[in-house]
Amino acid sequence: MADMFHLAWFLHGSSAVSWGRPFTGSIGRDWMSPDLVVDMARSMERAGFDYLLIEDSSYVPDAYGGSMDVYLRAGHSSPRQDPTVVSALVSQRTERLGIVPTIGTFATPPYLLARAIGTLDQLSNGRIGWNVVTGSSDRAAQNYGMPGMPEHDERYEIADEYLRAAMALFGSWEPGSVVDDPAAGIFADHTRVHRVDHRGEHFAVRGPLNSGPLPQGRPVIAQAGGSPRGREFGARHADTVLCMAKTVPEMKAFRDDVRRHAAAFGRDPDDIKVLFIIDPVIGGTEEEARERVRQRELAALADAEITLAMQSKVTNIDFGAYDLDRPIELSGLRTNGHQQVLEQFVAVAGEGRTLREVAVELARAATTRLAGTPDSVAARMAETMAEVGGDGFLFSSNDVSRRTVAEITDGLVPALQQRGLVRTGYEHAMFRDNLLAF
Ligand SMILES: Cc1cc2nc3c(=O)[nH]c(=O)nc-3n(C[C@H](O)[C@H](O)[C@H](O)COP(=O)(O)O)c2cc1C
Repeated sequence: MADMFHLAWFLHGSSAVSWGRPFTGSIGRDWMSPDLVVDMARSMERAGFDYLLIEDSSYVPDAYGGSMDVYLRAGHSSPRQDPTVVSALVSQRTERLGIVPTIGTFATPPYLLARAIGTLDQLSNGRIGWNVVTGSSDRAAQNYGMPGMPEHDERYEIADEYLRAAMALFGSWEPGSVVDDPAAGIFADHTRVHRVDHRGEHFAVRGPLNSGPLPQGRPVIAQAGGSPRGREFGARHADTVLCMAKTVPEMKAFRDDVRRHAAAFGRDPDDIKVLFIIDPVIGGTEEEARERVRQRELAALADAEITLAMQSKVTNIDFGAYDLDRPIELSGLRTNGHQQVLEQFVAVAGEGRTLREVAVELARAATTRLAGTPDSVAARMAETMAEVGGDGFLFSSNDVSRRTVAEITDGLVPALQQRGLVRTGYEHAMFRDNLLAF
């Protein structure tokens, strides 16, 4: 029998990313309510997903054309609700699903983060993760009183120290420190609760945490970052790493690299689950799936500007300043933002395409490779995992609705379960235990 693999969902922000798309109900009126996210989370839990990761950024972008227009007009990248608040609500309506809010290491003091995440781990009975991001936009930095972001590799240095401080805070209540013995008159044993006295280059925190111990001891750490420095960071700290790769050899090379780094840090590589982003199109028949791919390609053509605006957002390069119907001069493009995104852009554009063609190609690349009936998509996912070696997939779509989620959770997942590739029920109560179950 083939090895089992893990499933998760990467949700673009907590609110209405799919506004204006079919089958999204009255999302334009309901986006403030948590109902859509809660319904999606419950579907994922029914399907045995390991986790729901809620992406975040904390600014309204104006990187494309120097204007907020495209982003606000399309409801892309904003509004964004605070993912820790949304996580609290989701935790009360689910029982086994892992919940992973995104919080950056550039603005929130470690104590504030550790207390919020620690509280969430308690409220969810040990199901909280933390997607550690360094931040990449000057606009986000400016919302917290800084002139701009530190340089790319320096951000990872800061994040390394941040993780040390946060982990010390999570560990400041030893296991067994809460005695709960009314007869002896002791709630907690002060000899097992410790100051952390972290004093580093970027942070200083005394501790201990005043919110008490975490059911999991520390949250599940999720991380995404494709640059060499980013991979090293993930291999050192993460329990699960998210990867955006285009081909099976690229997927395998990425996972092998993370595992090699992990071993060099003295970690068991099997303790890190690398999940690969996919956005499959599911149809009742192969023909229906092909038709829906055609519709998505038409939408990609119409949405070329939105796709480029999203590229601008994460690279801070203003693609709105270029002619859409000409090839773009690539030699001068540099970023202090997402390096891997720019590399992929350059690879696609380098083949002589116009900017509009690049946008369409980028938008459809992930989709068209994986389309079909639940059974045929399940078979291809199995083949991919067999070649890559593990550890699972992370679904991600701009077309998020109860319908698209159900196509995965109630269409594709049963086909994967029938093949013995994914779980049919949770092995454990807590998030990390389920992640490490296979
Ligand atoms: C799948 C995926 C999800 C990400 N989610 C977020 C996010 O929610 N918020 C954020 O600020 N950055 C996010 N990032 C950005 C990464 O944390 C990282 O900053 C970026 O990939 C650049 O890293 P690199 O230069 O090491 O490639 C995400 C990246 C990927 C690939």
